[in-house]
Amino acid sequence: MAVLAMPGANVLLPRPGYPMYEARAALGGLEFRHYNLLPDEGWEVDIEGVEALADENTVAIAMVNLGNPCGSVYSYEHLTKIAETARKLGIMVICDEIYEHCTFGSKPFVPMGVFGEIAPVVTLGGISKRWRVPGWRLGWIAMTDPKGILRKKKILESIIIYRSISVDPAAIIQVELDISYFDGIDDDIDFCTKLAKEECVVICPGSGLGMKNWLRVTFAVDPPLLEDVMERLKSFCLRHAKPTRNHVTL
Ligand SMILES: Cc1ncc(COP(=O)(O)O)c(C=O)c1O
Repeated sequence: MAVLAMPGANVLLPRPGYPMYEARAALGGLEFRHYNLLPDEGWEVDIEGVEALADENTVAIAMVNLGNPCGSVYSYEHLTKIAETARKLGIMVICDEIYEHCTFGSKPFVPMGVFGEIAPVVTLGGISKRWRVPGWRLGWIAMTDPKGILRKKKILESIIIYRSISVDPAAIIQVELDISYFDGIDDDIDFCTKLAKEECVVICPGSGLGMKNWLRVTFAVDPPLLEDVMERLKSFCLRHAKPTRNHVTL
């Protein structure tokens, strides 16, 4: 969303929808406008409403197929209509397909990328729903852009820079916290709360994931920032160490 936030730009979002899109647009300074999903038509997109809502500053229509919260599975015909509307409006389609593998019943799932010849499509996916591994935080962005429209606008490069996406290996580790080292720190939650307050460093307490006195550390940031964080962590640990144990190895 933030990547699309040029001055005055707006994006069209479904109502009802997954609220993260509104939050992301608001955070990125991108205006969002709601188009309706129609309950009497299997929660299909109100195509006329979309056309009425868009203007020359609209950059994209975002949609979720399979739909959250409505569970709708859009037909080939309906997806064609959405793509044709996007072409008519000169905008891209962002399609969240994270529930792709949760389709039940007779209606087949059709990926929006199939319609990339009609309008450029950015597809969002992830492994959390299919494989029940939300903690892995692993997803992807795919572009179907046979006409090179998104390439020309350097959308992919902007996303890579904005999200600090790198091909480096594991950016998350779990470490056990030796609570006996500290004075006045009760457990992992206490450790993380005090660390955030005193050093502005945020680490996820393992208790939130069912692992008391463990820490979940993400370190996918630039090396200078990481060095700064390590220094803060070290001084925090030294400050809270029991008098007999005031050394720390990082
Ligand atoms: C429509 C939709 N997209 C994306 C996500 C994000 O999924 P995760 O954070 O598990 O990768 C969710 C999560 O509920 C969702 O409902």
